Amino acid sequence: MTPERIVLIRASFTTLQPRMEEFSGRFYARLFERNPELRPLFRGDLEKQSRALAGMIELIVKMLDMQDKLVPLIHYLGDRHAAAKVRPEHYAMFGDALMWTLEQMLEGEFTPDVRRAWQQAYSFMADNMS
Ligand code: HEM
Repeated sequence: MTPERIVLIRASFTTLQPRMEEFSGRFYARLFERNPELRPLFRGDLEKQSRALAGMIELIVKMLDMQDKLVPLIHYLGDRHAAAKVRPEHYAMFGDALMWTLEQMLEGEFTPDVRRAWQQAYSFMADNMS
């Protein structure tokens, strides 16, 4: 991850942080509309889901600083997800909903460079989890 890409992700995170509730609402609506089979995997209430999503984004942003240190944590998180019946092919569905929501929320700020930066960060996580 280049320093330029890190700057881009941090900037979009600053934009999104005060609007995480809306982000979460849109993300799950899209995810379940496109992939209704994923709905039963989420057993908690909406608030718990929002926290999981915020946790996910926060992890991606933290990861930018300390990729190597976070790899064992990401593996552990992947094991927990596998135990919760998340399968490797679900990561692409999740990633598509994430990119779609970023595009909707960031609008003009979501330039091709910003898209590539998020894509790379998400793929790194997903590859190490699945
Ligand atoms: C980069 C990919 C992902 C990251 C970083 C991530 C991160 C997290 C975190 C931090 C939590 C909360 C802590 C925990 O319960 O262990 C969580 C929970 C959860 N994640 Fe993920 N996740 C990812 C991908 C996925 C995918 C692909 C699915 C499946 C569609 C998924 C389904 C869930 C579920 C079902 C929960 C529990 C929420 C509940 O009980 O309602 N996650 N995730």
